[in-house]
Amino acid sequence: MRAPIGNRIIRLETVDSTNSFVLQNPESLENHGTVVIAENQTSGRGRNGRQFLSFPGKNLTFSVVIHSTLAREDMGFYSLLAGIAVVRALQSYTSISPRLKWPNDVLVDHRKICGILIEQAPPLSPETPVLVMGIGINCLGTPGDYPNFLKNQVTTLQALQTSNPEMVHPIDPEMVFQEVLKHLEQVLQELLQKGKSALVETWLKHSNAMGAQVRYETKNGFVDGTIEGMTQEGYLLIRHESGRLDTHISGDVLYQDSPYGG
Ligand code: BTN
Repeated sequence: MRAPIGNRIIRLETVDSTNSFVLQNPESLENHGTVVIAENQTSGRGRNGRQFLSFPGKNLTFSVVIHSTLAREDMGFYSLLAGIAVVRALQSYTSISPRLKWPNDVLVDHRKICGILIEQAPPLSPETPVLVMGIGINCLGTPGDYPNFLKNQVTTLQALQTSNPEMVHPIDPEMVFQEVLKHLEQVLQELLQKGKSALVETWLKHSNAMGAQVRYETKNGFVDGTIEGMTQEGYLLIRHESGRLDTHISGDVLYQDSPYGG
């Protein structure tokens, strides 16, 4: 049996990006489950070349080394698994259920609380792809800390608790971190025991995606449709308004009923 997630934790004070650190340090890629966490990220990276903004001590920013049990073409599936683990970990901190937004954002009340960036590392062998799962969670602070264009699109665990004083679960970023690692290990075990289809169902359950009216990005620009399901690879099935069924592999998906698309 292989060592669990978090069997080795490398703690850094300041780094440009924990994902970059892992990718640039082949030694940290050697063992499945190694985690690199930084108190402060100076150039956090998001999907599609975007920046991931974080504040020292307020956001959890860490990367997990995964030696995949899935084929190379299934790497995207790990985004879904990471999202499920984060939702489960955050559930006890917020009275409003965290919701998954394809492919790998976690939202609460339509605002982003966590972003996930999965990147490929050189494979260990042809049968064992290696990936770096970067997770950024907004724990402390408030949306007011963020630049104006983001203030209405992000939330933090602390802000959610301030707006709902009945939630008295204290926020200790280290505890949140440990919870995410525990749930990540559990979800990887579920993958081995139950297979992908059970986790596709779990992901859909936590997403409210089924039947959602969305605007989604295609090579011809954004078009409108309705989410009808998910493939075993983790791609969305979206019924285009013309009636055709699209398999959505990449590109943004914006929810029509949400003020910020989330
Ligand atoms: C996104 O929202 O587009 C993904 C954000 C991923 C952020 C995390 S923080 C830890 C890891 N290091 C990075 O540079 N990015 C990921």
